[in-house]
Amino acid sequence: MKWSDLFRVKNINDILPEENPHGSASENPSLKRTLTVVDLTSFGIAAVVGAGIFSTIGNASFNGGPAVVFLFIFTAIACAFSAMCYAEFASRIPAAGSAYTYAYASFGELLAWIIGWDLVMEYAIGNIAVAISWSDYFTGLLGGYGIHIAKCLTMDFLTSSRGFDQVSELLAQGKSLIDVQSLVSANVYDAYLAWTTAPRIGNIPLVCDLPALAITVVITTVVYVGIQESKRASNLMVALKLGVILFVIALGAFYVHPENWSPFAPNGVSGVMKGVSAVFFAYIGFDAISTTAEECKNPQRDLPRSMIYSLSICTVLYVAVTLILTGIVSYKSLQVGDPLAYVFGPEGANIPWISGIIAVSAVIAMASVLLVFQIGQPRIWMAMSRDGLLPPIFSSIHPKYKTPWFSTLLTGVVVAVPSLFLNLTEVTDLTSIGTLFAFTLVCGGVLMLQANPDYHVNDGKKRFKTPYINSKWIAPALFIICAVSAIVFNPEGVSNFFSSIDPSNPELQGWEVFKHKIPLIVFMIGMAFLSILCFIKNFSLIPVLGLASCGYLMTELGILNWIRFGMWLAVGMAIYFSYGFRKSKLAR
Ligand code: ALA
Repeated sequence: MKWSDLFRVKNINDILPEENPHGSASENPSLKRTLTVVDLTSFGIAAVVGAGIFSTIGNASFNGGPAVVFLFIFTAIACAFSAMCYAEFASRIPAAGSAYTYAYASFGELLAWIIGWDLVMEYAIGNIAVAISWSDYFTGLLGGYGIHIAKCLTMDFLTSSRGFDQVSELLAQGKSLIDVQSLVSANVYDAYLAWTTAPRIGNIPLVCDLPALAITVVITTVVYVGIQESKRASNLMVALKLGVILFVIALGAFYVHPENWSPFAPNGVSGVMKGVSAVFFAYIGFDAISTTAEECKNPQRDLPRSMIYSLSICTVLYVAVTLILTGIVSYKSLQVGDPLAYVFGPEGANIPWISGIIAVSAVIAMASVLLVFQIGQPRIWMAMSRDGLLPPIFSSIHPKYKTPWFSTLLTGVVVAVPSLFLNLTEVTDLTSIGTLFAFTLVCGGVLMLQANPDYHVNDGKKRFKTPYINSKWIAPALFIICAVSAIVFNPEGVSNFFSSIDPSNPELQGWEVFKHKIPLIVFMIGMAFLSILCFIKNFSLIPVLGLASCGYLMTELGILNWIRFGMWLAVGMAIYFSYGFRKSKLAR
């Protein structure tokens, strides 16, 4: 094995269909260039607006209060930096395959594999989260029509077990079930009921999320038989989502009680930062626009524009919806899976028919996100298989439906089975850390691309380039300002920043406290190195800021997530070395 083999780079000309009629891309004949900036923006919104705004926003608001709007703004800015880097790659390599393809052309094979493997977290694991949220709204909707599915068939095992523990603890303190109902949220009580009423195998209650499985099976079937038009997520679906959200904002404004916005940040910065994965999750999807690069009329001009347009539209909507939600009811009651419908229910504005409309549109909106990602995942596996990094069956095309049938079915299984049992928060965290990692690699990839001497050669083609601002002085200055402020203004106080005792729980000491600081310490060291590199190499500021802001968001996702993510990557590496490394087309 040669070390350099790990970094064998795919030639850009081998990737582009028009420049390589006989290469791998020719197996995927050139697609029609029909998409305009409006189509692309609409496609972006179709992929972005889903479980985040309809569901996970509830938990983020519960933890951070109204101040979570600042997190929405910060995250949007971080995404915008990455969007420009995606756009630069997409306009240079207008081929499907997204970040995987870009990495193959810039970092080489090993990192391309890592990113392809990592994108499973964005697409397949992300879809598990969307399926779980879809189930929350769907069961609520059925409930509105008087159809009640047994609770043990509509939630995951972990949520139910946690609810059972929480209620049992209160019962053990001598509280009656009636008291408990008023002490815990409706969700927790439902979880307790699910656990206690479920049929059992031995001692294990059979609790699972059947609607989440059902929607995944339906969507997988649709994708399997190949509704290609759906890839562009019809403008009608987007209009419906936007219409309902605008309606919620306009009508909700009349039911806002401004006293609910005070205190604005009830749990401080740490409360707001608990929402990082939920908030970031809400933005995931704009990068899917880059996968349409081969179908854009003018990718150079339209891809960056549409990414920025869809991000801007979503940011405005998200900020407004957060203010409306936290204005209608107290943030404390927002720990529900269907917050938009909830605030118009009896506990909020009490307009039941609106809750119904919201539930119907949420079910449709989330189904469209499911569809986009369920189409995306098999196509990434297909690209990897064509490069020899996965077995040929992953790119096998169904003779009748012309879809990558095996990859599509496998995606269905990978999403459907875990969605029966997994907990929304855990899945969202994994999706967010995986996607943030992909974003940092894309930003880093642009820096590598720009360092290549060929980058500056004018080949006569108009390409989008991230506007160049020299980071030589700005990056180190920003780094110093942020590092000093993080220490001086950290909510635990200067002395506690370096202390190994947790002020909120003094019994926690030493390693138990320190381990949670590891991601931030690693990040700070990485940023110090990056600042030095910026100083020496005059890196372009925008990719550097993208790398830094996404890297920072990753540090907020907790050490447990980092460990799970590390394990995921380790499994990926094992697969690469036992298969892709030997079978890669470049190796042959
Ligand atoms: N951003 C997408 C959603 O919120 C993943 O459903």
